[in-house]
Amino acid sequence: MIYFFIIVFLVLVIPTIFQISLTIKIILWIIAGVWLLPFSYMMYLYWYFSLNNKEIQYKIWELVIKKLPWNGRGKALDIGTGAGALAIELAKKFPESDVVGIDYWGKGWNYSKQQCEENAKHEGVADQIVFQKASASSLPFNDGEFDAIVSNFVYHEVRDTRDKRGLINESLRVLKKGGTFSLQDTFKNKRRYGITEDLIRQIKEWGIQQVNFIETVEEFSMPKLVKSELKSMGLLYGIK
Ligand SMILES: C[S@@+](CC[C@H](N)C(=O)[O-])C[C@H]1O[C@@H](n2cnc3c(N)ncnc32)[C@H](O)[C@@H]1O
Repeated sequence: MIYFFIIVFLVLVIPTIFQISLTIKIILWIIAGVWLLPFSYMMYLYWYFSLNNKEIQYKIWELVIKKLPWNGRGKALDIGTGAGALAIELAKKFPESDVVGIDYWGKGWNYSKQQCEENAKHEGVADQIVFQKASASSLPFNDGEFDAIVSNFVYHEVRDTRDKRGLINESLRVLKKGGTFSLQDTFKNKRRYGITEDLIRQIKEWGIQQVNFIETVEEFSMPKLVKSELKSMGLLYGIK
């Protein structure tokens, strides 16, 4: 998208360096200026969520772990681990745990299994974590295999099923009875998940004993511009 914005901008401004009428030049500059507004907004968000601006991204991962009601003993799963950040934070916070990070590492993301392994090594937790290629829509694990499951901002990205509630169900399937979960995604997006109260009711109907929900934006202070971008994000956490 960034390249697309730059190319269109150049297509608009390059003709203005040639001998064309002043009116056309002005019109092209105005259109290019207007075109730059969404681009600037996008670049601002890109910077805001990049690791250069450490604060917010870490706070989002920390929130997932903070809300996980777990004592850290046993086996945890990070679904859609990306570059492994959440799995690594989990392993660091719970030194007695064993963590599995899965991701399908497909097109569209610059993440890989090798990158996760290098990151875990760099952070000194390589012996605690295993990374594995798998899809969130069909986890290659037995029912009740994990003591804790986490996921951050993944389900809405999953393309191999349209059933977003089904993804939550599949995640909870591999959690043992009494195990804990903390899952963050665009749960307030009605088109994907329906009405939040109804979603929570359905999760309870699946036999989950405790389900809590919070809106991510209410947990941190952030600029209004960013808040509006994150307004659909929520965190589901509790005990199976
Ligand atoms: C926004 S990133 C989040 C990564 C990571 N959870 C984090 O917090 O940094 C979304 C991730 O979802 C992964 N993903 C997309 N579809 C997936 C699928 N079917 N199964 C597992 N992971 C998937 C992508 O590869 C990407 O790593």
